[in-house]
Amino acid sequence: MERTFAIIKPDATAAGDAGAIITRIEKEGFKIIGLKKIHLSKKQAEGFYAVHKERPFFGDLTDFMCSAPCIVMILEKENAIKDWRDLMGATNPADAAEGTMRKEFGKSIDNNATHGSDAPETAAYEMAFFFSELELV
Ligand code: CMP
Repeated sequence: MERTFAIIKPDATAAGDAGAIITRIEKEGFKIIGLKKIHLSKKQAEGFYAVHKERPFFGDLTDFMCSAPCIVMILEKENAIKDWRDLMGATNPADAAEGTMRKEFGKSIDNNATHGSDAPETAAYEMAFFFSELELV
């Protein structure tokens, strides 16, 4: 079993799409072992996305991530990291395949509905950023 970290971003949460996204996650065989709704501060958003701090979109990304609440989750499944990234689709919703979360719920590369860890190391960092072991069921 593998674990990955997922976010339903502020655009999707504000649009009322969180329920549909969670339903799809469960239908695809992921077990949600941690979940909370959180309104990030700018500092938390900057800490979470520190890997992107030199990128030109860092300011807009971190402003967006603290613009409204999001839902953070830990998902468990065999091949959870790859399978959640496949289910999300391409970063830019315009390039995402039919049936993916970003195609269905994303609006733009900035407002792209969901986030998922890209590798075991980032999954470990991202899960520990938001959850303690005691919170996982
Ligand atoms: P996410 O998977 O959360 O990781 C970083 C986010 O930065 C990404 O989704 C996009 O929403 C956002 N972003 C904005 N511009 C770019 C870009 N040019 N390349 C990658 N990510 C971008």
